[in-house]
Amino acid sequence: MKITMLGAGSFGTAMSKHLADLGNDILMWTIDKEQADSINSTGRNTFCFQDTVLPDNIKCTLDMDEALSFSDYVIMAIPTQFEREVCRKVAATGKKNLHMLNLAKGIEISTGYLLHKVHEEESPDNIYSALSGPSHAEEVLIGCPTAVTLASFTKGEAENWQKILTGNNFRVYTSDDVVGLEVGGATKNIYAVAAGISKAMKLGDNALAAIACRGLAEIMRFGKKLGADPMTLSGLAGVGDLMVTCYSMHSRNFRLGLAVGSGKSFDAAAKELGQVAEGAYTVRAVVENSKKFDVEMPLAEGVYRILYGGESPELIMRELFARPLKSEDLF
Ligand SMILES: NC(=O)c1ccc[n+]([C@@H]2O[C@H](COP(=O)([O-])OP(=O)(O)OC[C@H]3O[C@@H](n4cnc5c(N)ncnc54)[C@H](O)[C@@H]3O)[C@@H](O)[C@H]2O)c1
Repeated sequence: MKITMLGAGSFGTAMSKHLADLGNDILMWTIDKEQADSINSTGRNTFCFQDTVLPDNIKCTLDMDEALSFSDYVIMAIPTQFEREVCRKVAATGKKNLHMLNLAKGIEISTGYLLHKVHEEESPDNIYSALSGPSHAEEVLIGCPTAVTLASFTKGEAENWQKILTGNNFRVYTSDDVVGLEVGGATKNIYAVAAGISKAMKLGDNALAAIACRGLAEIMRFGKKLGADPMTLSGLAGVGDLMVTCYSMHSRNFRLGLAVGSGKSFDAAAKELGQVAEGAYTVRAVVENSKKFDVEMPLAEGVYRILYGGESPELIMRELFARPLKSEDLF
């Protein structure tokens, strides 16, 4: 079948290759002319994975009308803070009833919205689904075994996408908990930054495990306020993604934390990374919302204070351990 991919970054490229290898024709859409020309003429993406030659059944366009005329099955792999802008471009074409699958993991800072709400506002006439779970682009690109969760509000829609995306090494589980899936995917990036900081400070494996577990407690509390099912957060889109991102050098959020933990300022670390680390943005939206919802999230606040207040990781560590003693409640 034909599938449109909006966004030609790391994950858009990896998923396009996965789908092309399954025999689908893919039309990617980007705003970068050099990138589109290179994909069309040499099969190489100038933005990422330059050693990989993409198969012939992947092409790229700069024209949103052309992209959406190609297929009604549209996947979006755009950094969260640009999701609304791209949704508006989709709506401006006048196309309706598109099957829209979102791959981004984050929360819009200006509104505090999960991404299904951004789509609801900007392109309400499409059928929304979202995919999340432990799925580093670098591994999907080369066909490493990967399992993810795909959620939709619309009955049967998650199953449609499940059939399209499933491959020998790519297993898709369905869910109807879009909120839980989006909360898990967005918030885990914050704790990956914390894990990177902890690693750089050589705090040890015990500390790393504590960050992942207490991070999960914060994710569960936050998710509960938004209506997430805790079971979703115990699965691939929660614990699964939290584990992969807190323990892997593939994670940009983990690498951002490593740089900050070794003494670099947030600005210098982000510049050095050169790519979007969603956790750095999500933490702003989450800390603001946690105050509004009265949810205790000391680790997220610590990451926020280190990134945006320039406070020392050592001070934040001392404060976290000096907090009043309590029972290990998840909620
Ligand atoms: N990289 C991964 O392993 C991975 C895995 C799962 C989910 N995700 C999520 O997918 C989303 C995209 O991640 P990525 O790694 O592909 O990001 P990326 O930074 O590699 O690429 C993003 C793409 O979006 C394009 N873009 C940026 N601003 C734009 C704008 N204003 N309008 C249109 N296009 C714009 C860029 O040109 C680029 O092609 C993120 O939310 C990320 O969390 C990434």
